[in-house]
Amino acid sequence: LLSVVSMNGQVKISEIHHWMEQGATWTSSAGRSSLFLPWDGCGHVVMYQDSGTLASRNYPGTYPNYTVCEKKIQVPQGKRLILKIGDLDIESQKCETSYLTILSSSMSHGPYCGNVMPVPKEIILDSNEATIHFESGSHVSGRGFLLSYASSDHPDLITCLERGNHHTKAEYSRYCPAGCRDVAGDISGNIIEGYRDTSLLCKSAIHAGVVADELGGQISVSQHKGISRYEGVVANGVSSQEGSLSDKRFVFTSNGCNKSLSLEEGFLSKSQITASSYWEETNEFGQQFLWSPDKAWLQVPGLAWASNHSSNREWLEIDLGEKKRITGIRTTGSGSMLNFDFYVKTFIMNYRNNNSKWRPYKGILSNEEKVFQGNSNAGDIVRNNFIPPIVARYVRVIPQTWNQRIALKLELLGCRVTQGNSSFTHSMWQKPSQSTETSLGKEDKTVTEPIPSEETIIVPVFIALCLFLFSGIGIYAVLRNPEVFYFYFFVTGCWKQIKQPFTRHQSTEFTISYSNEKETPQKLDLVMSDMAGNNFCPLMHLFYPVC
Ligand SMILES: *[C@@H]1O[C@H](CO)[C@@H](O)[C@H](O)[C@H]1NC(C)=O
Ligand SMILES: *[C@@H]1O[C@H](CO)[C@@H](O)[C@H](O)[C@H]1NC(C)=O
Ligand SMILES: *[C@@H]1O[C@H](CO)[C@@H](O)[C@H](O)[C@H]1NC(C)=O
Ligand SMILES: *[C@@H]1O[C@H](CO)[C@@H](O)[C@H](O)[C@H]1NC(C)=O
Ligand SMILES: *[C@@H]1O[C@H](CO)[C@@H](O)[C@H](O)[C@H]1NC(C)=O
Repeated sequence: LLSVVSMNGQVKISEIHHWMEQGATWTSSAGRSSLFLPWDGCGHVVMYQDSGTLASRNYPGTYPNYTVCEKKIQVPQGKRLILKIGDLDIESQKCETSYLTILSSSMSHGPYCGNVMPVPKEIILDSNEATIHFESGSHVSGRGFLLSYASSDHPDLITCLERGNHHTKAEYSRYCPAGCRDVAGDISGNIIEGYRDTSLLCKSAIHAGVVADELGGQISVSQHKGISRYEGVVANGVSSQEGSLSDKRFVFTSNGCNKSLSLEEGFLSKSQITASSYWEETNEFGQQFLWSPDKAWLQVPGLAWASNHSSNREWLEIDLGEKKRITGIRTTGSGSMLNFDFYVKTFIMNYRNNNSKWRPYKGILSNEEKVFQGNSNAGDIVRNNFIPPIVARYVRVIPQTWNQRIALKLELLGCRVTQGNSSFTHSMWQKPSQSTETSLGKEDKTVTEPIPSEETIIVPVFIALCLFLFSGIGIYAVLRNPEVFYFYFFVTGCWKQIKQPFTRHQSTEFTISYSNEKETPQKLDLVMSDMAGNNFCPLMHLFYPVC
């Protein structure tokens, strides 16, 4: 090996060793060697036991030249794998150098690319595992791909790209895959009044605290008439944007375990909210202010609780009086009215019962305590949900990072623990049923056409009727009535509402706003030569197996 050069300069030999350990392989052809990194073309990848999401690098921005993404996906044995392709936009004439293939033990699906063969929206495999292989040559544009998978227990799987307005039914239930939180795309609204129908369904479900990003899960949705304004708030690490009037909005059906635990039965007594320390402030005029723990209730205006010391061992403790089911927490900082800029950026939770020890609240998939993303300014209220819920009498909020000083106002959400009622447990925590043998037949199945359902059948009739009626009324109204605006609103409103279902499975309509500049990957097109030295390859794209 004479030298290895990347676009960014020399590559260390130790780096290559590291890649080799991760599964990179040397391939040789005609005296030239190249290093093959089978993961470089992968972007957002979240894979869990029962479901997951995969996308090409930079998605929905342009994927890199000469790159490969190869991932083996699997669901528990004895189940079948269902794949949904949410978007596929690969620039290639004949799928020669750029394509996506799906390889299962029995057969291979694809190659799929831009325009050679229709891309299936759904593939039901005969086995429980498959390998996703994406490869690119030189190209100028193309978003690449985004797909979701789940086991055959969830035939109603959707991808992270599905929006509320892709559905017209008043009520429906779908299965969200793991990994939708960090997929680009907007949501508007909040759990209580619902989400603008243009919002991504699964991302909204994570925002609402209905499913956890790490797991995905079943969502139950109902559609309602839209409202004039949608809130933009941060919850569960997702921010929703403010949104304007829409025809429709959707709301998640919940089990109702979301009451304010501080308001429900009157405020808890002072002795039930305590802290490791509190700040006794004396201002320049000699006035004293107590930032004591009883100031911590979100519903009580004024000062917040602030600790006297700044360390990650300070805590605020709440005694709920009896064991409660705690499903969420809303927090804010010192408030936007006061001249302070105190807030808690991240925190962890501990809980215990009467005589037990403090236990950390852990993440679903890890054994480490879960760090919650708190506030990013002193005034806004941020919600975090506990999936699974905490069932405890005492809880402690332990700030880990903060701005200027630890200060907190909060509200716990939850409900009473009803005796002998375990149905509060979210469906995703129930073990999947054993009867997994769905009547899908014994062979792989691909579905290219949009799956016909009442959602799509109703549309043509509806569109005709709606257009006929409202355009008629609209024109008539414009001619006769000065209140043109009002009727125009109906015309456009109606058109908008019914236009959407047609675009349900089309990847061309893309209303995502994102910044694809955020994490530009390291350019790693390497130039290298082998021992023989005579076959120098001027600019070899390292990830492409043949120079
Ligand atoms: C791929 O390479 C071609 C030719 O060098 C270049 O024009 C194009 O912009 C590159 N595409 C990407 C996505 O980097
Ligand atoms: C709790 O959930 C119910 C049912 O979905 C909803 O109507 C209510 O507004 C929610 N309340 C809060 C405080 O989130
Ligand atoms: C805060 O800490 C200082 C110094 O450690 C101490 O003198 C003061 O009494 C503390 N204030 C309260 C209210 O505990
Ligand atoms: C915890 O203590 C309270 C009173 O202090 C009592 O009413 C309750 O039954 C106890 N709970 C358990 C689980 O021991
Ligand atoms: C259990 O909780 C559910 C709400 O999830 C409720 O509909 C049901 O009536 C409860 N059953 C009992 C026995 O309390």
